[in-house]
Amino acid sequence: MPIGKWIGGYPSFRAYAPAMLFRQLFDATSSTYTYLLASRGEAVLVDTVYEQHARDAALIRELDLTLVHTLDTHVHADHVTGAWRMKQAFGSRIGLAASVEADGVDTPLADGTRVAFGERALLVRATPGHTSGCLTFVLDDESMAFTGDCLLIRGAGRTDFQEGDAHALYRSIREVIFALPESSVLYPGHDYSGRTATTVGEERRHNPRVGGAANETDFVGYMDNLGLPHPKQIDIAVPANMKCGRPEAEVPAPPAWGPVVWSYASVPEIEAEWVSAHLDEVHVLDVRQPSERGDPELGAIEGSQALPLGELTARVAEVPRDKPVVAVCRSGRRSAQATVILRRHGFERVANLTGGMIRWREQSPLAETGIGCGSRGERE
Ligand SMILES: [Fe+2]
Repeated sequence: MPIGKWIGGYPSFRAYAPAMLFRQLFDATSSTYTYLLASRGEAVLVDTVYEQHARDAALIRELDLTLVHTLDTHVHADHVTGAWRMKQAFGSRIGLAASVEADGVDTPLADGTRVAFGERALLVRATPGHTSGCLTFVLDDESMAFTGDCLLIRGAGRTDFQEGDAHALYRSIREVIFALPESSVLYPGHDYSGRTATTVGEERRHNPRVGGAANETDFVGYMDNLGLPHPKQIDIAVPANMKCGRPEAEVPAPPAWGPVVWSYASVPEIEAEWVSAHLDEVHVLDVRQPSERGDPELGAIEGSQALPLGELTARVAEVPRDKPVVAVCRSGRRSAQATVILRRHGFERVANLTGGMIRWREQSPLAETGIGCGSRGERE
């Protein structure tokens, strides 16, 4: 059962998901924002980052979403898109400006294209200038827009490479983005100062490059004299993004020992069904208090080692290293911390039993396995 279907007794997230779900995610290396929007269980990701695939994939699974599209605002020069990896994982369609003619695009985008998800949609607006193929995605009710590197918070995308054109950028901002309602919340592709969002009204008044009384001459003069260094990643990122992030080499496979999935909380998780079928291939570490192993409803996993979480650091030498370690507790919370401690002590093949003993008993009832049988290292 995939992570997200079972969360310790709560129904699936989809059962009580809000009418529209929105998340803003950040990649600290490239200062890139990725946006997740979802409606009625269908999701769209805007501007994914290749290296953040595990994080974003875990969030989609945990929220029980069907990813229908990844959209890129433009061919990025500072990071590689995660679009291709998302398509491999979820079968999502890749959307990018048709005009850039990149390889692997499923949904060529142009001004006026409508990308639907659930009951909502993003409307594509052409906003060239930072690059010739830059797009802004506007939510159907114009309450929010994703401006990529066209309009940044109190700034604007540079125009000195990738067919950049300060005159075109001025018109895109003034005639397309500033034509949205004053209250429209604008979400940029990057921010380098910790800011997360702005509004049309704010930028009209306070954007130092294009707001207030600035005219096209003022703006172009400003942009032509930024004097920015060449982007470090451009020679890698642009060719990769012209293939929608499809790598030259094979993507690293998940650990060979088992189907470990990294959760959104960065915990390596493994499902009870797999562990049950491969019990002789792993070492199960039970980090509950010894008394809990006698719980008449949950019992303990056959052959598991008892070592309470609070003693794990001091007694870590007692944990064998010849097999992958699967940590377990009652609900999977304490054992998640056990995986952190084990990894800190050099255990690389380690995972948390998703949902703990509660989940274990759902698929392996006590009548079949007995209570508290055959534990190793259990203290009196
Ligand atoms: Fe960019």
